[in-house]
Amino acid sequence: MSDAKTWKPESWRGLPIEQQPVYPDATALAAMEARLRRFPPLVFAGEARNLKKTLAKVADGKAFLLQGGDCAESFAEFHPDNIRDTFRVLLQMAVVLTYGGNVPVVKVGRMAGQFAKPRSAPMEAQGGVELPSYRGDNINGPEFTAAARRPDPARLEQAYAQSAATLNLLRAFAQGGYADLHQVHRWNLGFVVNSPQSARYEDMANRISETLDFMEACGVTGETTPTLRTTDFYTSHEALLLPFEQALTRIDSTTGDWYDCSAHLLWCGDRTRAPGGAHVEFLRGIGNPIAFKAGPSLKPDEMLRLVSTLNPENEPGRLTVICRFGAGKVGEHLPGLLRAARREGCKLVWSCDPMHGNTIKSGSGFKTRPFDRILAEVREFFGIMRSEGTHAGGVHFEMTGQDVTECTGGAQGITDQRLGDRYHTHCDPRLNASQSLELAFLIAEQLKEERLAAKRLAAAQ
Ligand code: PEP
Ligand code: CO
Repeated sequence: MSDAKTWKPESWRGLPIEQQPVYPDATALAAMEARLRRFPPLVFAGEARNLKKTLAKVADGKAFLLQGGDCAESFAEFHPDNIRDTFRVLLQMAVVLTYGGNVPVVKVGRMAGQFAKPRSAPMEAQGGVELPSYRGDNINGPEFTAAARRPDPARLEQAYAQSAATLNLLRAFAQGGYADLHQVHRWNLGFVVNSPQSARYEDMANRISETLDFMEACGVTGETTPTLRTTDFYTSHEALLLPFEQALTRIDSTTGDWYDCSAHLLWCGDRTRAPGGAHVEFLRGIGNPIAFKAGPSLKPDEMLRLVSTLNPENEPGRLTVICRFGAGKVGEHLPGLLRAARREGCKLVWSCDPMHGNTIKSGSGFKTRPFDRILAEVREFFGIMRSEGTHAGGVHFEMTGQDVTECTGGAQGITDQRLGDRYHTHCDPRLNASQSLELAFLIAEQLKEERLAAKRLAAAQ
């Protein structure tokens, strides 16, 4: 691995690399990379620095990270309503956490660039035919035909364009009035109404409206206090397809540092986080806030190696560890990682992904995630963080604002048999709006518990 001074956006090339497509036409790929290098950055480095500063507050126990969105964005599902509905469910979740958990919430979408997917096998066999696996719409198509599965560099330009348009709408919503707290009632989606968590949400929204009326009478309005009518919303995705990430990596003219301007935050997946590998090498040189996934195979010494490579200055907010062990397994893995980090004085954000360790094949053949397992992992995570005296910094999950039936359970009681009703995901099963809201109420309760535990501890000292 090269040292910090010799790092370049291309220094990952030649290192061991996992999960990359094999492009049949290398010349076409190189031409597309050259084309992308001339395209405008999607985000500005200053925004990535602002996110890092906010995440430093999370590392310090004073804020909470809410990161969610699609497992895989797709060209087929690209529609303004989908962007709006995912955004509004994230807003709802954030308001539940801010109000119920009494903590500022940092909102980060798995949106505007979350296309490339790691796969368990490079090839897929159906009826005696073998084709390359689907790797995300920016690489190849999901249809099981040789033409669709051939990696096509032209898809990178379409992914860039879709990301740019998505980000444009997200910025407009975040800054243009859609996220105004006075709209808190309107964020409830039609199909969630009449559910228990919708009633709970309405009740909370009423109390927020009353508070806003009271504050207005005191002279505090959206005009005097812009944070009531706008919000900061950031984007993130797995930095998996390195030729694309490299092409979007630019020198920030204000600091002279390199930033990957394809998103504000980039992370390394559980399958590509080998300490000497290409993905870690790429991430270590960019100035963005970054993260890596921690699955059951990550041992404390390997984690410390990753932490010292990715955050050598121990800068708070720079690095997030996204834990995804699976329900029933958090107690076995998390305490060892926490203790190793504490021993070394590492300043980290600890986040919980309760999705990726809880994927199963249902009786009806669909890939699903039982909602009660997802909730169980969140509870285990918060419980261990409390008993270890470390702030549970955030959650990371896959969701959509659409009324899909991809994860079993929840207040709607989605059964195995009903998974086929509206199973639309291109990759992993996502929470629907109703399940996302239910999850938010659980997290708010856990955050309250954390605060109470801290108060009890302070009183006892
Ligand atoms: C994902 O976040 O979609 C993913 C593939 O996660 P992991 O790397 O944790 O398996
Ligand atoms: Co996924």
